[in-house]
Amino acid sequence: MCGIVAAAAQRDVVPILVEGLRRLEYRGYDSAGVAVLTGDEIQRRRRVGKVTELDQAILDQPLQGGLGIAHTRWATHGEPTEHNAHPHISEDNLAIVHNGIIENHAELKEMLKAKGYRFESETDTEVVAHLVNDQTKQGKDLLAAVQAAIHELQGAYALVVMSKADTSRLVAARMGCPVVVGLGEGENYIASDVQALLTETRRFQFLEDGDVAEMTVSGVRIFDTDGNPVERKISESSLSADAVEKGEYAHYMLKEIFEQPRALADTLSERVAGNRILEAVFGPKAQAIFEKVKRVHIVACGTSYHAGLVAQYYIEQGAGLPCRVEVASEYRYRNPVVSEGALFIAISQSGETADTLAALRYAKESGYLATAAICNVPESSLVRESDICLMTRAGPEIGVASTKAFTTQLVALALLGVALARHNGMTDRIERAYIRQLLHVPVLVEHALKLEPQIREWAKHFADKRHALFLGRGPTYPVAMEGALKLKEISYIHAEAYAAGELKHGPLALVDAEMPVVAVAPNNALVEKLKSNLEEVRARGGRLFIFADPDAGIEPSEGMEVMTMPDHIEPLQAPLVYTVPLQLLSYHVALIRGTDVDQPRNLAKSVTVE
Ligand code: AGP
Repeated sequence: MCGIVAAAAQRDVVPILVEGLRRLEYRGYDSAGVAVLTGDEIQRRRRVGKVTELDQAILDQPLQGGLGIAHTRWATHGEPTEHNAHPHISEDNLAIVHNGIIENHAELKEMLKAKGYRFESETDTEVVAHLVNDQTKQGKDLLAAVQAAIHELQGAYALVVMSKADTSRLVAARMGCPVVVGLGEGENYIASDVQALLTETRRFQFLEDGDVAEMTVSGVRIFDTDGNPVERKISESSLSADAVEKGEYAHYMLKEIFEQPRALADTLSERVAGNRILEAVFGPKAQAIFEKVKRVHIVACGTSYHAGLVAQYYIEQGAGLPCRVEVASEYRYRNPVVSEGALFIAISQSGETADTLAALRYAKESGYLATAAICNVPESSLVRESDICLMTRAGPEIGVASTKAFTTQLVALALLGVALARHNGMTDRIERAYIRQLLHVPVLVEHALKLEPQIREWAKHFADKRHALFLGRGPTYPVAMEGALKLKEISYIHAEAYAAGELKHGPLALVDAEMPVVAVAPNNALVEKLKSNLEEVRARGGRLFIFADPDAGIEPSEGMEVMTMPDHIEPLQAPLVYTVPLQLLSYHVALIRGTDVDQPRNLAKSVTVE
C-alpha cells in the first residue's frame, strides 16, 4: 500500500505532488510527506494524518523546487508518526519514497549500522535510503546506485530516489508494486497509479517487475532487471480527471453506490448481442480454453472473495462445473492439488492486491488449464499476467469500501458462468433468458436505490449498537457476508454473517434486543426455510430487519421490520440487487456514527503488501 508521486519539471512541482497525493489517498492515509530539491538542498515536510495536514504544513512553511518526491502512507513497519513518514533521507544526501515491504530489512539494517549509518525511523524504507547512499559514496551515479542497491533487496517495492549529487534526475524501481511513468510536455512524472497524474497527462508507461527508470524533464529511460534499455508501451488513458471527484455527493462511497446502474450497464455493454454472450470479449484464446474447462478454482480477497462465493452458484448450478472458492492469502501457502482441466480465476478490483497476484503467479506454475482475471483496472498486473480476462467497467472506485466494484464483478462473473455453461450443455433458450435477466439488472438496481429514505430510518436502530448479525441462504449468503463486511469496515460495528440455517448451531446464543439481525430474503427455493430461521431469532427476543421479496410472504410484526424489495427479482439477479440496500444501510449507519466513510481507520483501498 502507500502511494508515491514524483515529478521533474521546469516549474515548481509541489502543487503537482500534493494533488497527486490527494488522488492517491485511497492507498493509505495515516501520514504524508514531500521532499524537493531547492538548489542543491533537500527540503522536506512531513505530517501525521491526511494530505490536508501536509498541505497546511506547506502553507505554513512553503517549499518549492523543480524536482520532487512525495508519499502517502499506510503503516507496515513502525507506527504512523512523523519520523516514520516518508520521504526518508540518508545523511542529507538523498531522499526516497517507497511502497511495499523489504523482507530482509533487519539484516540489512545491521550491516548498515556496522558501517556507521544512523537510523531515525522504524521503517524498512530507511534501509533502502542508506543502501543507495552507500552505493553513491562508492562513486556510482544515482541510476547505477539504485540498480546496485535493489540487488540487495528481498520483498516488494515501488520506489523513487532523488539525490543532491544529481539535481536533474529521479530514479524509480519496481518489484511487485505498481509504478507508472507519466509523460508530459517538457516535464515528466512517476506515480503508483494513473489517477495521481490525470490532471497533468494522459500518456503513460507502466513499469514491469525488475524495471528501473531514470527520469528528467526531457525524457525517461527504462532498464530491465539486467540493466538493458527496454521500451515499455505508451498508453493513452481514457479516464478523465474529474472521474475521481465526488461531485454533488457527500462521500465517494455514496457516489459509487449510486453509479451502479451505469457501471453495470457499461459492464454488460458490447459483451452480449441478440441476448447471447460474445465469447470473444474474454480474449482470442477464450473459446479454446472454455471448451476444455472441467472445473473452476476462484481465488480473491475481501469483497472480491465474496463475489467469488456468489459465482460458485453461477458456475456450479448454472454451468454444472465443480467450483471451489478461497481467499488468496490461504491459497498461496497451502500447496493446492490441481486437477486436469481446472480454470483458475482471480478476482480483484485493483488488480494489484499482493495476495491475489501471488496466487495468480503460483497458479501459473501449477498446471492449470489457464488463468483468467475479473478486474477493474486494465493496466493492472493481474490483467497483464492472466491468459484471459473480462474487465468490469465500474470506473475508478475511490471509497475504501468496495461497492460498484462488487456488483460489476458479479455481473462479469455471471457472464463468465454463462459462457462456461454454453460449453457444458446450456441451451440457447436458457442462455437468452439469463442474458435478458442480466440486462435488466441496472433497472432493478435503480429501483433498489429508491429505498434510501427508508434505509436511512433503519440506520438509526443500528447506530448505537456494538454488534450485528447478517443472515442469508444460498447465493444471498455471500451477500450477507458482504453486508457484514461493509458495516464493520466503515461503522466499526462488529458484524458477522451466517448462513441462516447455521444460526441454531451456536450464534443464536448471541441474540438479544441489543443485537440487530439483518436478513436478505429473496423469493427462492429456500425462502420457507429462511422464514423458520427468522422465527428462531424472533422467539429469542432478537430484532429483525429483513429485506424481502414482495411475494416471500414475510410481513412486518412485533420485533420484525420488513422492507419490500423491487418486484420480480430472478435468482440470478438477486445477489446483485440485494447487495444495494446493505451498502446503503452501512453508509447511513456510518454517517450517524460520524466515522470517516471513505477512508476508514486502519485500512487502505489497495492492499499491495502481504
Ligand atoms: C472491501 O470493501 C475492501 N476494500 C477489501 O475487502 C477489498 O475488497 C480487498 O482488499 C480486495 O481488493 P481487490 O478487489 O482490489 O483485490
